Amino acid sequence: MRTPPRIAPSILAADFGHLADDINRIAPLVDILHVDVMDGHFVPNISLGPPVISSLRRATDLYLDCHLMITDPLTYLESMKAAGADGVTVHIEAVPDPTPVIAEASRLDLDVGLAINPPTPVSAIEPYLDQAHLVLVMSVHPGFGGQAFIESVLPKIEELREIIDSHALSADIEVDGGIDLRTASPAREAGADVFVAGTSVFRADDPAAAVEELRTILNQG
Ligand code: DX5
Ligand code: ZN
Repeated sequence: MRTPPRIAPSILAADFGHLADDINRIAPLVDILHVDVMDGHFVPNISLGPPVISSLRRATDLYLDCHLMITDPLTYLESMKAAGADGVTVHIEAVPDPTPVIAEASRLDLDVGLAINPPTPVSAIEPYLDQAHLVLVMSVHPGFGGQAFIESVLPKIEELREIIDSHALSADIEVDGGIDLRTASPAREAGADVFVAGTSVFRADDPAAAVEELRTILNQG
């Protein structure tokens, strides 16, 4: 059963000096806020951590979907929860056996997602799909916003859709990277439920209008 498409703007493309203003401008129109945590080790960039998540928690009631592009997520789940995260997504490339992370997230009452980079096959996360709230298919190489959508990940979204539906699993499929008015529809057709969009929302002249246009496109599919 397909869920309605949900839009998750990525604050990586917002103005970090005016985060609350940027978020409040689009908050009534979106479903989720996507928060990219980078450690300068798993990816060659550093973004933000629990102190900023705490500030976000005070600024908005939106669901905080924290994408952990970090080498050692297990160590940080407790501080993510304390800061106000609702869900955490970890990379299978960082934790090839995510069982301890899934257990710790459950203990902390955090939703847990499993992410795969463009070269990583679906088979890497398949054994754990029944325990995940979310699977995140990266459609760019993680670390930076503003990159071009990698079309060759679409078959992985189709493959995940087939596995999730045929086993009646509840995991949502999130697609992250290069999502805009051109790439959202093929990702939806392939089976994605949640659409992360950084540059195409926060760098638009009118971010609220950009969200509305994205939703119109997604609802046409
Ligand atoms: C990339 C991040 C993405 C990024 C998406 O490492 O995980 O969430 O912010 O940004 P755009 O939409 O600009 O590709
Ligand atoms: Zn992300």
